[in-house]
Amino acid sequence: MIDLRSDTVTKPTPAMRRAMSEAEVGDDVYGEDPTVNRLQERAAEVFDKEAALFVPTGSMGNQIAVKLHTRPGAEVVIEERGHIYNYEMAAMAAVAGTLARPVKSADGSGILHWDDIKAAIHANDAPYYVAPTGLVALENSHNLAGGTLLTRERTGEICAGAHALDIPVHLDGARIFNAAAALSETVAALAAPCDSVMFCLSKGLGAPVGSMLLGSRAFIDEARRWRKLLGGGMRQAGVIAAAGLVALEESPKLLHLDHANARRLAAGVAELPGVKIDPERVVTNIVIFDIADTGQASEDICVRLHMRGVLASGFGSSIRMVTHYDVSTADIDAAVKALRDVLLER
Ligand SMILES: Cc1ncc(COP(=O)(O)O)c(C=O)c1O
Repeated sequence: MIDLRSDTVTKPTPAMRRAMSEAEVGDDVYGEDPTVNRLQERAAEVFDKEAALFVPTGSMGNQIAVKLHTRPGAEVVIEERGHIYNYEMAAMAAVAGTLARPVKSADGSGILHWDDIKAAIHANDAPYYVAPTGLVALENSHNLAGGTLLTRERTGEICAGAHALDIPVHLDGARIFNAAAALSETVAALAAPCDSVMFCLSKGLGAPVGSMLLGSRAFIDEARRWRKLLGGGMRQAGVIAAAGLVALEESPKLLHLDHANARRLAAGVAELPGVKIDPERVVTNIVIFDIADTGQASEDICVRLHMRGVLASGFGSSIRMVTHYDVSTADIDAAVKALRDVLLER
């Protein structure tokens, strides 16, 4: 199977498996797991933030951040396709008691500009009967917008605008290492103006489990309490943190290969009848294309791709394919051929 559904499907590398089997462990609820502590210290160092917390999932990291930055009844301004809004089980309402205020980017790219956000903000000077804005939530790279990027300058501009109104900014950086590779930036530079950032070890970086939440020392101390409240206090978690450390040190160096494969995939599918995609806009490891003009349903195409050994995700009139270290360039060519066969057989 060539599995292009997501970059979450990777299997641990031999180096990760070795590190897991040799990991020194302790009880992390007591703060006594040396490997978890090392991962947290190393992540904080890489991101140049005061502290970091190992959390089981990206969703938990994001939702702890929403909870800590806001009060019940506040609004969270977020791009309309943002993961925190669309794919986290309405946790911002269930856990934090907040309401999403989805916004569009003026050009439809999903890449927000401060002006797109400013129009949706209710700051201190807003009438008393509107809900105050408690948080701006950004996403880099932006999954559902096709792995698009927020530059350091754009993030800085948004944070400066929000901070001037006393509104914090959280960055969903599930794939921030992809963003950094594509922009030739450091993750620290991309996250610098944000009050908190979450990144996933278990997506493009390839670890089997885990994400990190980063921010000030006081924020992370409080985040640890909320992780426990949500049932995320883990015991000998060093076994998985060990793979996370390998992912953090080794995997970022390889992401440019996934990006090259994504560009190759985009160029290949752009040639197929009825497929709409601008390959120039594929800048990281996510390839989303429109198949409305094929006259076929995305679910049906995905079922027939599956029969040819290729897994992809279909939603509405779009199909998403994501590259990662478990797919080779030959796999990409095979996937394009399989899609061509599927589209031409009807
Ligand atoms: C942009 C983004 N943020 C957050 C998450 C949540 O991560 P997890 O699946 O570990 O909860 C995902 C998962 O796909 C994602 O794509």
